[in-house]
Order: sequence, then structure tokens, then C-alpha cells
Amino acid sequence: MPLPEGFLQELKMRNDITEVASSYMNLARRGRNMVGLCPFHGEKTPSFNIYTENGSFYCFGCGVGGDIITFIMKIENLDYIDAVKFLAQRAGMEMPENTFDDSMSQLRKRIYEANRQAARFFHKQLYSPIGEKGLSYFHSRELADTTIKHFGLGYADSDRFSLCNHLKSLGFKNSEIVAANLAFQSKRSNSIYDRFNDRVMFPIIDLRGNVIAFGGRILTDEKPKYLNTSDTPVFKKSANLFSLNNAKNTGSRTLILCEGYMDVIAVNQAGIQNAVATLGTALTSEQALLMKRYADEVIICYDADEAGQKATQRAIELLRNAGLSIKVISIPQGKDPDEFLRGKGDKGGQAFRNVIERSGNDIEYRLSKAKSKFNMEASEDKVSYLNEAVKILATLDNAVEQEVYASKLSAEIGVSKEAVMQQLKKQVSKRYKEKRTKEFRGIQSRLNGRDDKVNTDRYQKPRVTAAEEALIAYIIKHPDRISYVNSKLSDDKFQTAFNKKLYIYIRDRIKEGKDPLTTVSGDFTTEEAAKIYQIANSYSTQIATDKSMQEYIDVINDEFLKYKTKDAGNASMEDIQERLRRLKDNHQ
Ligand code: UTP
Ligand code: MN
Repeated sequence: MPLPEGFLQELKMRNDITEVASSYMNLARRGRNMVGLCPFHGEKTPSFNIYTENGSFYCFGCGVGGDIITFIMKIENLDYIDAVKFLAQRAGMEMPENTFDDSMSQLRKRIYEANRQAARFFHKQLYSPIGEKGLSYFHSRELADTTIKHFGLGYADSDRFSLCNHLKSLGFKNSEIVAANLAFQSKRSNSIYDRFNDRVMFPIIDLRGNVIAFGGRILTDEKPKYLNTSDTPVFKKSANLFSLNNAKNTGSRTLILCEGYMDVIAVNQAGIQNAVATLGTALTSEQALLMKRYADEVIICYDADEAGQKATQRAIELLRNAGLSIKVISIPQGKDPDEFLRGKGDKGGQAFRNVIERSGNDIEYRLSKAKSKFNMEASEDKVSYLNEAVKILATLDNAVEQEVYASKLSAEIGVSKEAVMQQLKKQVSKRYKEKRTKEFRGIQSRLNGRDDKVNTDRYQKPRVTAAEEALIAYIIKHPDRISYVNSKLSDDKFQTAFNKKLYIYIRDRIKEGKDPLTTVSGDFTTEEAAKIYQIANSYSTQIATDKSMQEYIDVINDEFLKYKTKDAGNASMEDIQERLRRLKDNHQ
């Protein structure tokens, strides 16, 4: 059973999209709409729009869109029912009872609960005789008990059934424990067995305080060193960060990005709480955008080894695209933050802060990396370095910064500043052209529908698709005209499958006296919802006139005739007669 319309309408009324979105991003007024930098993709000029008229949003840069429910689904990583619950709670509304299928939501609740119980169990084990090994491991890594408690660290013992048995005794079903990825289903029998054995455990906690996953480290040199929870209904590795729950409370708009759990914990123990780490994978753009919500600046603090340096280059690009300013720390003697802090005791915090003080920005980092490849005594190498350095400086958006670095560079290699600037200008305009071409191609392929994943017929049938969409937009703006449109155009005239489905959906809703869009975010996928709101918002009231509506109908009918005649060669005799009859009907 779907959620009652009245409930959804009230929910939307009480959760103003501009107000809700403002708590996640900065918005500025533009005419009747609001615009801002899209929180779902990295950009420097705003293409994210909020349409206050119908409570929806659409981003022209990445094509996401929808209503307030879609917005919460995307930004909070929730599914439809949980996003509705989230908004109901925000507005102090009760959820209607038994009117919706929330089995998935119930399962997620059970997984959160199983994870919470597992974390408690692991922590308790750590401080029991069974966990002695684990505790002395942590102590050997200089973690204080207060730190261990603060992070809720634990120990999974080597008994392959201990956690399963414990959770079962608390009433969890096998299927729930397996869905949480805390256990595996045995192939041979009905039994399940623990995923984590003889490892020290790091719970991963989301911004709402739920335990969503674990990382488990082996105590020896065996492999794999760390085992992490796979993706589950409550956990998406690529969209979460370790310890962001702690880091976001510091009030600073800077985050320190480390490589590992132990680094983050050691840095915390040294009194610096704004550190986070990825969860066993390379940084993703989703994580970069997540950081952008809590920070303006990220200090990359990866390992000094080659892998760490490669990862740094990659992270610079992703963080830059997300609009963050960047610093790069290089820790002396090729250590990771945890190794650096070890043995320093109370002095660790200050020593680490000193390293942060000395850190350069990403441009300086990249320049010094480039420079290290060349022999600066040799003229040829100097020229190569200049070429590479200029490419790096061309990524600066700020002309003043470009000047400053150009001066430094000219002094460094003994070339006039004018010469450096000239090179730089060439490179900047080349980059600008490349960017423009790429943007243009993107828009072009979007326009000709090659990459329209929702309406896959668009590319084949651009003219009729455009008319169908314009007509649908018209109907959304003028629901009272549906009877007229319906009398002039039968459903089968719609040639693109998606638009046909959408037209019928909207027409039926209007005929039932409902608002056309209230339930779109629940009845369609998020991609489809984005497309629908794009259609609804992309035709202004001026275009949606009665006269243009008549034209859209004509185009759709016209295209239908063309299509049918073209097809006639392959049709059976009965088919052709049927079509001829219909043609005549159309012209009466
Ligand atoms: P590192 O290998 O740099 O380990 O992995 P580390 O953090 O220094 O760990 P310690 O100090 O030896 O205990 C960095 C991060 O990569 C992920 C983990 O998230 C780890 O913290 N990783 C590493 C895995 O997921 N699996 C592995 O087998 C190794
Ligand atoms: Mn380490």
C-alpha cells in the first residue's frame, strides 16, 4: 500500500525544500528560484537549481533532480521510506500506520541493531580474558584505554561461532546476521559462521551515531592485514569515512585525511580530532563531496611510500574538483602519522601540529614532486621542469596566485618572469579550450540523447520526444486541460516508452483529482524522478500556452503517421487495413 497522498502533501508542505537544502549547502536567490553549487557533483559555478514553485530541484551539471524526498534520499543515503521517516521526524509528524511496505526499512533497523550489539560484544571481549591478546596488541601500539573506549575498539575471538551465537541468543535471525555481513552462510548446512576471527575490531560509525560496519586487523603479519565489512543495506564503503562522526564536531572547517584507521586514532589520541580515513579503498568523489559538507580545507596526510604518493596525486584531483582547498603534509622519514606519533607521548600533538604548520598547498606539493624528477643543474632538465611546472600552475583559477608562483618559478630557474607568464598564459588558454570542448560535448550528447538512460528512445526519435515532453510539461502546469488533450491524442501516439508511461501516469492521477507529482519520488526510480522533474521544470509558463500545446499534439500525431507509413512494408494485410482506417479517423 502506498503512503496516503494527504500525508505526503503535508510532509512536503512542512519541509520546505529551500530551508532543508540550506542546511546542507549555500543557496542564492535567482529570480523565483534558488541556485547553488551542486552537492552531488564537484563544480565551481552553480548549476543546481531549486524550483520553489513546485518544491523540486534539478542540477544541469550532473542531471540529478527530484523533490524534497529525493533530495534527502541522495544526501543522507537513505531509501524512500527512510527518507520519508527522516522528514516526518524533522517536521514532528507521525508516520501513518501499516500503509506502506517497510520490510527493507525494518531489515536495516535490525542490521543497525545487530551491528551495535556486535560492537558491544567485541568491546566486552577485549576486556575479558579471551581478549587479552587484542588488548595487549592495542597497548603495544600505545593506545590508552580512554582512546580504546572512545573509539569503541574491540576483539573478535578465534571461535568461529561466538558472535553468531551471541547475536542469536539476543533474538537475531541468521538472515539478519548474514545481511549485516557479520557472518557467512555455510554452503553445506543451514548454519552460519563469523566473518571476523582473531582480529582487533574498529567499529565504523555514521553521522547519526549508528554502527554501520567494522574494520578488523589481524594481530600478526598474515594477510589480509585488514578485513572490512562489505557493502550492506546500511553501508556503502565508497560513501563513508572513518571517524567523520568525531571530526565533524570539532567546529573547525579543516579535515585531515589519513590512510588508515590507526593513523586517525593515533592523531586523535594526540589531541587532534578532525582526522578521517577512507575505508579500505581509494578516495572517491562521493567521499570528497561528503568532506566538502563539513570542511573548506583538507590536509592530505598519506603514507610517504610510493603507493601513498600516488594516492595523494589522485586525492588532490578529487578534492579540488569538489571545491576544497588542499594542503599536503609530508611526514619526516617516510612514516605514517601513527608511526610518527609513536613514542612521543604528550609531545606528539605539538610535534604533529608543527608538521601541519610546515605543510604546503597542493600546488607546492606537485611542483616539488615534479622538480625532484629533474637535475636542476642541466639546462635541458630546467626546460622540462619549466614545461611541467607551467602545466601545474595552469590548474590555478586565481590570476594573482598564478603571478605569485610564476615569480617564484622565474627566480628558481633563472628565466625572466615575462617568459614564464607567456608560457603560462598559453597553457591556461589551452586548458580552458579543452575544458570548454569537453563541457560542450557533454551538453551536446545530453541534448541529442545519446546518454539518456531513462528515455532510451530519445536518440532515435528526437522530434517526437521533445514534443511529448513539452506536452507533459504543459499538462503538469495546466492539469485542467487534460480532458481536452486526452480527446485529441490517444495514448498509443506516444512513441517513446518512458514518456508514454509518464503521460498515462500523470493523466490518471489528474483524473483521480490528485496532484500530478506528489508521489513521483516513491513511484519511480531516482533516475526517472530526476528526468520527470527536469521535464516539469524546463518549460517556462510562456512556452506552455494553449497554442503551443496544440502544436505539440500536431507534432506527435504527425510523427506517428510518418512512423506508421515507414513501417508499412513489413506489415501484414490486416495491419495495413487497420492503419488506413485509423488514418482516416484521425483526419475526420
Ligand atoms: P596500511 O597498510 O597503510 O596500514 O593500510 P596501516 O593503516 O598503516 O595499518 P597498521 O598501522 O599496519 O595497522 C591503510 C588502510 O588501508 C586499508 C585499511 O583501511 C587501512 O587502515 N587496508 C589495508 C585494508 O582495507 N586491507 C588491507 O589488507 C590493508
Ligand atoms: Mn600504520
